[in-house]
Amino acid sequence: MRVLVTGASGTLGSALVPRLVDAGYEVRGMSRRPRTGSGAQWVTADLATGAGVDGAVDGVDAVAHLASAPFRGRRTARVDIAGTRRLVAAATSAGVGHLLYLSIVGVDRVPLGYYRYKVGAEAVVRNSRVPWTILRATQFPQLLDAMLRVTGALGPVIGDPAVVAQPVDPRDVADRIVARLASGRLDDLEEFGGPQVLRFDEAARAWLTARHSSRPLLPVRAPGRLGRAWRAGWLTTTAVPRGSRTWADYLADTYGGPHRK
Ligand SMILES: NC(=O)c1ccc[n+]([C@@H]2O[C@H](COP(=O)([O-])OP(=O)(O)OC[C@H]3O[C@@H](n4cnc5c(N)ncnc54)[C@H](OP(=O)(O)O)[C@@H]3O)[C@@H](O)[C@H]2O)c1
Repeated sequence: MRVLVTGASGTLGSALVPRLVDAGYEVRGMSRRPRTGSGAQWVTADLATGAGVDGAVDGVDAVAHLASAPFRGRRTARVDIAGTRRLVAAATSAGVGHLLYLSIVGVDRVPLGYYRYKVGAEAVVRNSRVPWTILRATQFPQLLDAMLRVTGALGPVIGDPAVVAQPVDPRDVADRIVARLASGRLDDLEEFGGPQVLRFDEAARAWLTARHSSRPLLPVRAPGRLGRAWRAGWLTTTAVPRGSRTWADYLADTYGGPHRK
């Protein structure tokens, strides 16, 4: 079975491609630039312009659509919405049997500009004639780590202690995608989260400890509707199954210390 992976070079794609190869799939990875490696055949295509998209989809049985241009305003619209429309049109013409779209838990409730584009892309997939699955994952620990580095850049780590998150390791999400591709189309949405729901202050303290940092935590209440959505837990899910790798595992992998593989 042949699978096209868009966003194959990204954080999640890099975990997914070798897993699909190991599971026996013939994997085609899409990127805007020429690439080799990971056991995939690579094709060059750009979702924003449509260049190469028809050829990338031609002859595949399934598509795992991970590509995205987050928080880039109109560029995001071009890649995530118009690009998804192009991909879906190409998949429809090519008779693709399953298109799995990677979305984010809370996109329909948390008022962030990027999420509006993800909801738009979900609608393109949902209203298409291609058999589909939408997999909404919670946030990757790499994102939480990057956010903590930004909020801690000036000294104290600043954040709303009551905001809750549920980091999920991209390797666990990749395993879920492999399982979902094997079991076939859902024509529905499913959610997938990490093993623990953590308050921001718990996550930040563990992060500081892992980095041997004595910086203080400065509690600042996140304002407005966005703050309320974050505190209400709309970035989390009760769905099972869940990933197994914890925030502590990520910190140990990244900054050293005891951890499980
Ligand atoms: N990060 C998170 O916490 C998180 C959580 C839940 C769900 N998600 C979703 O998971 C998916 C993957 O996220 P990620 O963090 O792995 O992404 P990432 O590391 O930011 O990688 C983005 C990918 O999109 C591709 N891309 C960007 N513009 C493109 C274009 N015009 N045409 C074709 N490909 C393009 C890039 O490929 P090239 O640069 O090789 O062209 C790259 O492989 C996204 O849909 C994201 O919304 C992310």
